[in-house]
Amino acid sequence: MLTTTQAPPTSAHLPFGDQRNAPFYGKDILSVNQFSREDLNYIYEVAHEMREMVTRVGTFDLLKGKILANLFYEPSTRTSSSFTAAMERLGGSVIPINEVRYSSVSKGESLPDTVRSLECYADVIVLRHPEVGASALAAKYARKPIINAGDGVGEHPTQALLDLFTIIEELGSADGLTVTMLGDLKNGRTVHSLSRLLSLFGVKLNYVAPEVLQMPQEIISELADKGVHQHAYTELDPVIANTDVLYVTRVQKERFASEADYDAVKSLYVIDAQIMAKAKQNMIVMHPLPRVGEIAEEVDADPRAAYFRQMEYGLYTRMALLAMVLGKA
Ligand code: NCD
Repeated sequence: MLTTTQAPPTSAHLPFGDQRNAPFYGKDILSVNQFSREDLNYIYEVAHEMREMVTRVGTFDLLKGKILANLFYEPSTRTSSSFTAAMERLGGSVIPINEVRYSSVSKGESLPDTVRSLECYADVIVLRHPEVGASALAAKYARKPIINAGDGVGEHPTQALLDLFTIIEELGSADGLTVTMLGDLKNGRTVHSLSRLLSLFGVKLNYVAPEVLQMPQEIISELADKGVHQHAYTELDPVIANTDVLYVTRVQKERFASEADYDAVKSLYVIDAQIMAKAKQNMIVMHPLPRVGEIAEEVDADPRAAYFRQMEYGLYTRMALLAMVLGKA
């Protein structure tokens, strides 16, 4: 009987293996401003490899013996569990510290001390923290790579990387698109990172929010200096028909000084079937999730609703990042 040998599951130009000279080996991931288009192409090539491997074999041993510390000072469902899933699908293991109130942090331990302790046990630290700049501070003290999984109202670079991957996979390219960001643009770190990342793609950005939740002036100026066309609105209606990507965000209750301030702006926009009827046929709706009423459930069945697919893209993106910073991609 003739037997055939199956081709190795990885492509010839990007073999998995030790590549310690590869970009990102041993590097921190703190802000999207550290990425060039060339870097993004590389990350997404690796993410494609990851998708192929997950589809074919589920779990494999690329990061066998490696340990990730998942250090979360703020609540998380997707980010924390997708980093765990990413590490475990790569054969590595995870130290989960989700409830810092049960850890030494509750005894008053400083962030620098906590990360310098965890890196004695782990090879990479994923950090979510309520303060802007916390990941940069941790990275100053740590010898091991720090991955910023959200620093207060600052940045959320791995979310932006998976958001951009979603756009490219769903629409073919991000170049020249009209991206409309809606909701809490002031406090939403995902839109702070995504708008910066999209500045590399000649996009047009629409910001739809009440005045008090508009995109921070500092980000608008930063992007204006890069030549990005940006327009602010308080209503979605003027821009929905020209939008290629509608990126919806939750009003960030935890960043408000009072319940009354939050109540005043919490339900201003709800995307429903009526609004979707005004949108292009080949656009997509995204949301980093969790949603708390900004997108009606009736929209879920619309093929343009990409927010659940977006999470799956996140798994492959985070697998790629972990493999890269650990020198295995
Ligand atoms: C986002 C976050 O934590 O910034 N969630 C996430 O990581 N998917 C968005 C949010 O909480 O609204």
